[in-house]
Amino acid sequence: MSLHVAIRPGVEADLPTFFEHQSDPEAVRMVIARPRTGPAFFEHWAKVLIDPAVTHRAILADGALAGMINAFDAEGHRWVGYWLGRQWWGRGVATRALGLLLAEESARPLHARAARSNVASIRVLERNGFVLRGYGMSEETERFPACEEARFLLER
Ligand SMILES: CC(C)(COP(=O)(O)OP(=O)(O)OC[C@H]1O[C@@H](n2cnc3c(N)ncnc32)[C@H](O)[C@@H]1OP(=O)(O)O)[C@@H](O)C(=O)NCCC(=O)NCCS
Repeated sequence: MSLHVAIRPGVEADLPTFFEHQSDPEAVRMVIARPRTGPAFFEHWAKVLIDPAVTHRAILADGALAGMINAFDAEGHRWVGYWLGRQWWGRGVATRALGLLLAEESARPLHARAARSNVASIRVLERNGFVLRGYGMSEETERFPACEEARFLLER
């Protein structure tokens, strides 16, 4: 049975669940990230919640808080990103959530990137029409070690 997926604006009460999702060592390995500490996480997302330039959405699967999905500005482009709790993986939730976000978010083009090894995330993008522009080494940042990443674009 497929899950009913919906998105709604994120609220502060969601943040402890998102912190759990984004501290999960398996998810962190998949993304190839360095998890934020609790204080850094809550400080970052409290700012995002009141930032009118970010489309920040909670993902609901059968009414339960399953993860987050966002569109945001960085490096002169508009980007999308998403993260689900592990218990929700592999059931089509991210694919549908991205479809819902794309219906709400009118900015184009949209950019996305994923570690080349993150096959699930790459499939989520492809299923929603994003086109692979190529692979390259990402630059190391405080949040992300350098890795080979796949770069995607949604033109319209
Ligand atoms: C990446 C992530 C969002 C995928 O979400 P999901 O809801 O499990 O994805 P879906 O169920 O919609 O699956 C999308 C596709 O990936 C495939 N897939 C799912 N999990 C997979 C896995 N672990 N390995 C390989 N393929 C996988 C599915 O079979 C599906 O492929 P299909 O379209 O060919 O059938 C989720 O695993 C996650 O939140 N991971 C941690 C955070 C993350 O990686 N965020 C993205 C950073 S770029």
